[in-house]
Amino acid sequence: MILAPRKREQVLPQPVVLISTISKDGVRNAAPWSNVTPILRPLDEILVVSWLKRDTLENIRQTGEFVVNIPPVGMVKEVMICSKNYPPQVDEFEVANLTPRHSVKVRPPGIDGCLAWVECTLVEEILRQRYTLIIGKVVHLEADDRFFNEKGEMDFEKAKPLSIILGDEGMSFTYSTYSERYANYSEMFLDRSDPAAGQV
Ligand SMILES: Cc1cc2nc3c(=O)[nH]c(=O)nc-3n(C[C@H](O)[C@H](O)[C@H](O)COP(=O)(O)O)c2cc1C
Repeated sequence: MILAPRKREQVLPQPVVLISTISKDGVRNAAPWSNVTPILRPLDEILVVSWLKRDTLENIRQTGEFVVNIPPVGMVKEVMICSKNYPPQVDEFEVANLTPRHSVKVRPPGIDGCLAWVECTLVEEILRQRYTLIIGKVVHLEADDRFFNEKGEMDFEKAKPLSIILGDEGMSFTYSTYSERYANYSEMFLDRSDPAAGQV
């Protein structure tokens, strides 16, 4: 079946994060985002795609800082409260009853109860006609130990990081499950060497 343009977005599962920012006047903001991607491996830079009318975008432009919080599936309620289009003077931490978490390298607080907190500074904005691409530098990243195993890998079946599949009139909230297949990165290389292995 050939999908019409307005139905195409549903073929790609997407992560859901909460981006926290503060305005230049100190108002705290939190908003869900799914157009977020790491820029390759390791996660030195991150790409966030934004429509133009977003308080989050305005705050990032004004302060150059943001935190990408990774919510578990249990935070869907907060995610949907933060998705509403409150005016910029509304403190969305208060509205959604979010507990702020002190950030180490940036001013915007992280969100307590999330699985990881990616502190970022604005590197570059690539402005298109109707939307904009924000490239952030990851300046600090912490994760909740309780959801990481002895090897330092996320126990995603316990953590249940939130994702979505878009539909016609709404979105289904989802989370990952293990397919019983693990592949070492070295499998991708004919000589079994991974150029990124051992990078700190
Ligand atoms: C699951 C989910 C994912 C979203 N992803 C994006 C996104 O990638 N880019 C975007 O511009 N808006 C996205 N939105 C919409 C914003 O979260 C919404 O417009 C929010 O009110 C923006 O808040 P702000 O104006 O305080 O920044 C998403 C909403 C939801 C519920």
